[in-house]
Amino acid sequence: MFKIAVLISGNGSNLEALIDACKKNVINGSIDMIISNNPDAYGIQRAKNHSIDYKIIDNNRFETREDFDRALVEELEDCNPDLVVLAGFMRILTPVMIEAFKNRIINIHPSLLPKYPGLDTHNAVIENGDLKHGVTIHFVNEVLDGGQIIAQGEISVNADETLEELKTRIHAIEHVMLPMVVSMFADETINTEKVIYEKFK
Ligand code: GAR
Repeated sequence: MFKIAVLISGNGSNLEALIDACKKNVINGSIDMIISNNPDAYGIQRAKNHSIDYKIIDNNRFETREDFDRALVEELEDCNPDLVVLAGFMRILTPVMIEAFKNRIINIHPSLLPKYPGLDTHNAVIENGDLKHGVTIHFVNEVLDGGQIIAQGEISVNADETLEELKTRIHAIEHVMLPMVVSMFADETINTEKVIYEKFK
């Protein structure tokens, strides 16, 4: 069985989409471990609801990013995942993690990278009057929201669309794109040479 570990920091709606896709066999794999760096993340409750193993590794307990990553690696090595999915995990990883799981860590980010790495992407789209917005799934490297792009989903920004409306629409396409890409990893049908590009209404 294809083993998935999911790292979260907050609400975990993308985690829920992955759990759902595994339950429905849309993903031929299982989520064996959920790790949150934030003890208050709602995603932890989702792990409990579905009786999935979880660990809280509070980054505030570590002096350096490397120390935190060493704790992550130690925990992850126990379950030896085929894929580590960052689903709203708001930490930059160091080579300690990246080398340990080379080409096995992916992240979902709410923008059409390389546009708008970092936070407040929806705000930036509205403030700049962009006509397009979207999500990106990419391999993780040491650069914030850097790393080779695997898939992008695009929407057109509606006239007068509010921040909340935009955010909701982006979340909705994340919940389609992330399970789709993870299922392709599990089925070994992913072709990382060619970016998957989907347009949504
Ligand atoms: C998602 O929109 C995800 O793309 C974003 O955090 C949100 C988490 O939502 N990730 C990043 O910004 C990473 N740079 P969720 O906790 O409900 O899945």
